[in-house]
Amino acid sequence: MTSQERGSVRGLLLAKGDEDNNIVWHEGHVDRSRREALLDQKGVVIWFTGLSGSGKSTIAFTVEHALAARSRLAYVLDGDNIRHGLNADLGFTAGDREENIRRIGEVARLFADAGFITLSSFVSPYKADRDNIRALLGSGDFLEVFVNTPLELCEQRDPKGLYKKARAGQIPNFTGVSDRYEAPVDPELEIHTADCTVAQAAQQVLDLLASRGKIW
Ligand code: ADX
Repeated sequence: MTSQERGSVRGLLLAKGDEDNNIVWHEGHVDRSRREALLDQKGVVIWFTGLSGSGKSTIAFTVEHALAARSRLAYVLDGDNIRHGLNADLGFTAGDREENIRRIGEVARLFADAGFITLSSFVSPYKADRDNIRALLGSGDFLEVFVNTPLELCEQRDPKGLYKKARAGQIPNFTGVSDRYEAPVDPELEIHTADCTVAQAAQQVLDLLASRGKIW
């Protein structure tokens, strides 16, 4: 395998031993750099993680809107939305969360390969699951953003009334209440939503994208 293949989607599949499964990679004629040139941007995955109600999706959709205003193509993969379709078969046990994040990691990898600025908004509470996605994508394509909002504030906001239900014992394994949240150790960005506006939070993400050469 060449070093170029090793870093590519094909390389990742080869590494998984597809040749043993009678599956043969079909190479296209348009590569990622050509797609990125067409879009005038670089593909990337911004991986927002944080408690329910921390503000992940609000920030992600604000970033998407700001990028669209600059003629940049972004797409939000949102936990609640994806659980209505692709991951409708999954619940909130540790195993289901792992599978939820694994599938989204694969989707996000395809989106980054398409050249999209991919904004992934999932609680993704377990460090090992997030680290797997980082390993899958490579550090250049995976930018972890910890939306660090204190549990008390998330609970005060309680936009969907879920904390109230969880405290009443009506939702099992609720992150922050009856299930653990493992904070990132060394994220590319940490946003303290208690101390900034949504616009300021979104600007921090835009600055990160620019500093990593994903937009210009
Ligand atoms: S994850 O843990 O697997 O990453 P995901 O981001 O897809 O979770 O979904 C979280 C959303 O589902 C929350 O914002 C909340 O609205 C809802 N939800 C329902 N049950 C739970 C639960 N037990 N723990 C956390 N979130 C839950």
